[in-house]
Amino acid sequence: MNKVENAKKIAAVLDWYHMNGVETIFGEQTTDWFEVAKNPPVQFAPARPRPTAPRSKGPLTASPQRRAPNQAPKQAPKQAHADHTKAAAIPAQAVLEAREISAKAQNLEELRSALTAFDGCSLKKMAKNMCFADGNPQSPLMLVGEAPGRDEDLAGVPFVGRAGQLLNKMLAAVELSRQEDVWITNTVYWRPPGNRNPTISETEICRPFLERSIELIKPKIIVALGGPAAKNLLSTKSGIMRLRGKWHEVDIGGQSVQIMPTLHPAYLLRTPAAKKLAWHDLLMIRQKLRVHKEE
Ligand code: URA
Repeated sequence: MNKVENAKKIAAVLDWYHMNGVETIFGEQTTDWFEVAKNPPVQFAPARPRPTAPRSKGPLTASPQRRAPNQAPKQAPKQAHADHTKAAAIPAQAVLEAREISAKAQNLEELRSALTAFDGCSLKKMAKNMCFADGNPQSPLMLVGEAPGRDEDLAGVPFVGRAGQLLNKMLAAVELSRQEDVWITNTVYWRPPGNRNPTISETEICRPFLERSIELIKPKIIVALGGPAAKNLLSTKSGIMRLRGKWHEVDIGGQSVQIMPTLHPAYLLRTPAAKKLAWHDLLMIRQKLRVHKEE
């Protein structure tokens, strides 16, 4: 076959793929996502029913069936097929390393240092700064956003741009101060280039650090800001409009946490009419905080 015929055949094959809806090629090898789904990454567990006896204040433990989210497994999670794409294999190693080093951190400063030294997340290569967290780690209220944007990348602090400023105002409206009453972080710690959404691999690689921070801070309430953070924390595919405005109880690091998903301030900037929904959620959060204070 000469070069022209060869090129025509390749063009015909690509055309055929395109007609069948294939618009992007991610790798040279295909991934059987049904097989990958049979072996999913570790997820937060829905809360177990509350024990009737008082909960022990002892160290975090895991039941034999359920490994604590940050406890390193003995081996790397099994791949469904030995020849799975590298894209599927690399996160397993990076997730394992993230789990091992985050589990060793005994306080937030050690966790921040471990994250600073961690090279397993490719977002780090393109970001100017790491955005670990901001606010008061003693607060019972933790806010989790999606990913740092441009302003956050420049400052190395989450939620400092326009969305962050709106968030500050929303908090102030229910008499919460960003510096004193909340601990703010994200599902990933570096800005995705061009503000794209973080990929599943990127959030899975960063997740052990998020889980460990939750174990160390022991917040009573977590507010998931926006759909991606809510899906990540609740391990669900449901959309934010279905999830928001309700409490979801989840077991993280041996403690049960109440999670309230709400609308992301960046969405509220684009859709001011949705602010009334966020206001409703904020009032529920305020009320729950009062109850916790009285307990
Ligand atoms: N949006 C987020 O989700 N996080 C930030 O830190 C900033 C904007």
